[in-house]
Amino acid sequence: MADTDSIPETKEFFLDKPQSATPFPLKGCQNLDWGMKNRLSRIFSPKSGRTVMLAVDHGYFMGPTSGLERIDVTINPLLDYADTLMCTRGILRSITPATFNKGVVLRASGGPSILKELSDEHIAVSMEDALRLNAAAVAVQVFVGGEFETRSIHNMTQLVDAGNRYGMPVLGVTAVGKDLARDAKYMRLATRICAELGATYVKTYFVSEGFETVTASCPVPIVIAGGKKLPEKEALTMAFQAVDQGAAGVDMGRNIFQSEAPIAMIQAVAKVVHENMPPKQAYEYYLTLKAGAS
Ligand code: R5P
Repeated sequence: MADTDSIPETKEFFLDKPQSATPFPLKGCQNLDWGMKNRLSRIFSPKSGRTVMLAVDHGYFMGPTSGLERIDVTINPLLDYADTLMCTRGILRSITPATFNKGVVLRASGGPSILKELSDEHIAVSMEDALRLNAAAVAVQVFVGGEFETRSIHNMTQLVDAGNRYGMPVLGVTAVGKDLARDAKYMRLATRICAELGATYVKTYFVSEGFETVTASCPVPIVIAGGKKLPEKEALTMAFQAVDQGAAGVDMGRNIFQSEAPIAMIQAVAKVVHENMPPKQAYEYYLTLKAGAS
């Protein structure tokens, strides 16, 4: 029923209080539109400003790699512990429960398999389909120094233009080829190019020398890929050093799903990323959870 004049005036306009403005926790993202920020908040925890993205998109060029042969069996049980899932639209539609309501970062570039020149990618998902799938971001591989460098960058800028039209963040993924140096100088170059050309955030690899200069010179958030499987303690140490040196989290695949105890490992990674748990303690936490599960 509508208010009438007979009802006593109970309105409170808080005239002495300026309207509050909640700061947005992600580096370089304060000027983005509401929809873009809302999507980013499904990827990065608003509390810590960081993310544990579970990367399972490897099949788009590697096929059923170890640990991803049956995603329904090995990955779905991990979803409760991830902030975000990074996958292809094929896996999302065929295997991921539609009740999963955290962020999904959709692999949006592809083409060649591991048998061919990897930098020969094209855009592999339309913005319309990414919106239909309620993605929180799209991810595109950028091959700085690769044979098809310019096309891969053009793939990214096309997705950035489309993403800006609809409020869809774009994750620029810096690919490392076998002939490319994995050092801070290369990572600074690749991440900065992605950011300058419009990536909302950037994924790169951790380097043990000078990683803080990579995060410092990139004006948007950086997350690190895990890379090849390492012993759990080393992977936790890498995650700790990365966030300690300015990364906004991890986009980790093999070091989680190829672990001897993936559910324990993803929880230990989350402790490092969100709570700065030191690696030694995080490894003990992993061992405790692993022992409890067996
Ligand atoms: C490359 O295959 C994908 O972009 C992966 O998402 C990325 O490399 C992260 O996975 P991992 O931690 O296994 O390197």
